Amino acid sequence: MILDGKKTSENLMKQLAKEVAALDDVVTLTLILVGRDPASQVYVNNKQKACMEVGINVEFHHLEENATQKEVLKIIEEANQNEKIHGILVQLPLPSHLDEEVIINTINPLKDVDGLTLTNQGKLFTGMEAIHPATPKGIMTLLQKYFIEISGKNVVVVGRSKLVGKPIAMLMLQKNATVTIAHSRTQNLKEVTKRADILVVAVGKPNFITADMVKKDAVVVDVGINKVEGKIVGDVKYSEVKEVASYITPVPKGVGPMTIYSLLENIIQSYKLLNKNK
Ligand SMILES: NC(=O)c1ccc[n+]([C@@H]2O[C@H](COP(=O)([O-])OP(=O)(O)OC[C@H]3O[C@@H](n4cnc5c(N)ncnc54)[C@H](OP(=O)(O)O)[C@@H]3O)[C@@H](O)[C@H]2O)c1
Repeated sequence: MILDGKKTSENLMKQLAKEVAALDDVVTLTLILVGRDPASQVYVNNKQKACMEVGINVEFHHLEENATQKEVLKIIEEANQNEKIHGILVQLPLPSHLDEEVIINTINPLKDVDGLTLTNQGKLFTGMEAIHPATPKGIMTLLQKYFIEISGKNVVVVGRSKLVGKPIAMLMLQKNATVTIAHSRTQNLKEVTKRADILVVAVGKPNFITADMVKKDAVVVDVGINKVEGKIVGDVKYSEVKEVASYITPVPKGVGPMTIYSLLENIIQSYKLLNKNK
């Protein structure tokens, strides 16, 4: 069965739009893009469009590739101070002359809608209330909407990035899964992935997971976005793995739209957290 991220996110966005319309204030996101990386421009456009759809205002700062650290920090510091700004998002990756750690950690953690500041990462690690990165949060919402049981299950996450692999592993652990994190140094990967009741793949390599690596009736979540001959494909060889899996996310229309929805949810969460802390 397909885990339809597109339909699920569309339904959730309709509900969120109603919630946004009922708020007392205009919710505003400061969105910063540095440079002209084509993929980043597409992501930023999609984020802007989604914000508009639910009634979130976007203050967009598009800086030249050679923008200085000081220029980026100035925008963040002003947005931190501005009570009318509820969320701040810096599109990654940044050009290599900029210090990503410093830039991200300048964001007020209450406005950190990507959940990437050390404060939000630490809170996720300890299980405190936090803003969670949008992709793992979207995966959890999707599984919940399909009533997929997590407690007690063997979850294998392939990939250990800060943005996807590590936070999804923590969220699964919070839901009482038995979690294994695999990565490029994992030995006998197939043996590891075969044990998964729920397999989450965030590697960035097309057709990386084949049917022989998947246990019968496993739930397979494909996070990968790869371009092959002009087409977007995931990390999972969909045509064959769908025959083995009980549930599977397609690419596109799986995790991608859930990520966008979760970002919107995070912006509203930031708005509420800021109001609570006034
Ligand atoms: N759908 C969405 O909304 C969304 C959001 C974010 C990312 N993505 C996509 O998801 C994919 C992963 O993104 P990311 O940011 O997590 O990527 P990343 O930072 O490049 O991390 C890739 C991970 O895969 C592991 N890996 C690489 N080769 C491997 C191998 N042969 N066997 C096992 N593990 C291997 C790496 O291990 P090491 O740590 O050992 O190097 C690393 O932990 C990309 O295609 C990206 O475009 C999609």
